[in-house]
Amino acid sequence: MGEPLRAAIRGTGSYAPSKVMTNADFEKFIDTSDEWIVQRTGIRQRRVMGEGETTSSMALAAAKAALADANLEAKDLDLIVCATVTGDMPFPATACFVQQGLGITDIPVFDLSAACSGFLYALSVGSQFIQAGTYRKVLVIGVDALSRYCDYTDRGSCILFGDGAGAVVLEPTSEDKGVLYSVLRAEGAGWDYINLPGGGTRYPTSAQTIADRLHYVKMKGRDVYKFAVEKMQWLLGDCMAKCGLTVETVDMVVPHQVNLRIIDSAAGKYGFPMEKIYINIDRYGNTSAASIPLALDEARRAGLIGPGSTIVMVAFGAGLTWAGAVVRL
Ligand SMILES: CC(C)(COP(=O)(O)OP(=O)(O)OC[C@H]1O[C@@H](n2cnc3c(N)ncnc32)[C@H](O)[C@@H]1OP(=O)(O)O)[C@@H](O)C(=O)NCCC(=O)NCCS
Repeated sequence: MGEPLRAAIRGTGSYAPSKVMTNADFEKFIDTSDEWIVQRTGIRQRRVMGEGETTSSMALAAAKAALADANLEAKDLDLIVCATVTGDMPFPATACFVQQGLGITDIPVFDLSAACSGFLYALSVGSQFIQAGTYRKVLVIGVDALSRYCDYTDRGSCILFGDGAGAVVLEPTSEDKGVLYSVLRAEGAGWDYINLPGGGTRYPTSAQTIADRLHYVKMKGRDVYKFAVEKMQWLLGDCMAKCGLTVETVDMVVPHQVNLRIIDSAAGKYGFPMEKIYINIDRYGNTSAASIPLALDEARRAGLIGPGSTIVMVAFGAGLTWAGAVVRL
């Protein structure tokens, strides 16, 4: 028997649309201010898809960047897992459009729905296939385009979200690195904290569902806030305890970029210095499933983390779902 296999991150990539929407842009059509948004969320601007862009076009760009970084070709892939709640269409899976875009065939591809926790859910799934020895090269994508589903008359939610995509390529390793731990949780009873009710089988699209604005995100902001703080604190503690880590031995926390105050209170509980928390919410807002892989890719390319770095990733989202992972690069 050799060493047990783990899933190592061989490459990362990300994509954000070039179109920028600033807080000042929101001041033109809702009763808000740059000051309020920055104080309550930490967000200064977000990227939104331009005409012709789709969830799969963003995912494809991130996938190509991750493959290039891994020095691999699309034909080397054995599996694609795409985390999204804002796919190109209700079906087929957005992963199918990505596969087509990569020009490959005859491998399994599928989408996974866990909202803002989606990337960490997908990372865990991809990692299990590698540990089991089923597949060797796995592309894991987190992508969302919430700008297409925001209710731009609801100032309590529309200011939060942006669009983007991030991807990683996993491969087996027997070295002391890769996905060291992952934890996944959900609480379906909290489905009404944040959801997009219209267009599914519960509220099939009709003139009435559109008049009732059910095709837009609904959110109980304050309830989500409390739950997010509690779960992010728990996830950080759980990830460190399960891997025997301390604030000193964690090189970087890459949290879901949900709200600067939520991140601060979770990291503050353990006394993490701010330079150990990667933050880019000021530039992208909450990009849902893309948030963590986008941040991970940026932090790597900026040289803030690299080979040997131990990273804790924590996320929380609709479902309700929450998830964490410890990865050594
Ligand atoms: C949405 C959120 C920023 C609101 O911040 P908050 O401090 O909780 O603010 P509240 O909802 O208590 O609202 C306080 C006041 O600000 C107002 N307000 C809400 N959005 C506003 C905006 N964009 N601009 C100005 N005022 C706003 C509210 O109407 C309320 O006014 P009132 O006191 O007159 O009723 C915050 O609750 C949050 O980030 N929640 C988590 C949401 C989230 O992350 N969702 C995604 C999960 S993955």
